[in-house]
Amino acid sequence: MNPKQLAGERAAEFVKDGMLVGLGTGTTVYWTIRRLGEMARQGLHIRGIPTSRRTEQQAIEAGIPLTSFAEVSDLDLTIDGADEINPTLDLIKGGGGALLREKLVAAASRRLIIVADSSKLVPTLGAFPLPVEVVPFGWEVTARRVAMLGCIPTLRTADGQPVVTDNGNYILDCRFGTIPDPAHLHRDLKLLVGVVETGLFVGMADTVVVGSESGVTLLRAGEGGTG
Ligand code: A5P
Repeated sequence: MNPKQLAGERAAEFVKDGMLVGLGTGTTVYWTIRRLGEMARQGLHIRGIPTSRRTEQQAIEAGIPLTSFAEVSDLDLTIDGADEINPTLDLIKGGGGALLREKLVAAASRRLIIVADSSKLVPTLGAFPLPVEVVPFGWEVTARRVAMLGCIPTLRTADGQPVVTDNGNYILDCRFGTIPDPAHLHRDLKLLVGVVETGLFVGMADTVVVGSESGVTLLRAGEGGTG
């Protein structure tokens, strides 16, 4: 079976009756949402908060009842993908452009469970360009300030136009090469006017469900990570 499908479906087992669940974005958590839809049809009662319009659409089609932060403040758990995962389970996210809502939902959750295939496990974050969500006004000057932190930022485009996030912002994909201190870099980026959020998720994930050709492995924060 496809490693992403293995990881995604295994993570659905963490979801229990009555839970409020954050629904991530991407091709791995796609399989979790599909499985949760099947479980809902078999009688599981959950309510979800989606992290993107894309996921909202999938959840509606799968028959998963949705709620919002107008009605609830805390979620039991969130299941989401990642672009890179280091040995202490710090993450780069946002390859799919949903990082701001993903971080809002994860921050409101008691647990963040990440689903990924083994290609996402890295010794040090940074080979994957770090997505940074920025305000469209003056994005050029924001990009220059971001570059001074040691990267080459590129405005994300599609068909020659800037990609606009679900929140009406732009994304800079920032090539750092290596990020030895993710918490420090996240703080430095957040201090820049024009930066809305970064794709660094530091100390947020408690479990990673890794799918590979040989099956599924669970990594837990504080247990040595990816070693
Ligand atoms: C979406 O913005 C991202 O954070 C995704 O969660 C991440 O890119 C992982 O996606 P895949 O599961 O599709 O690799």
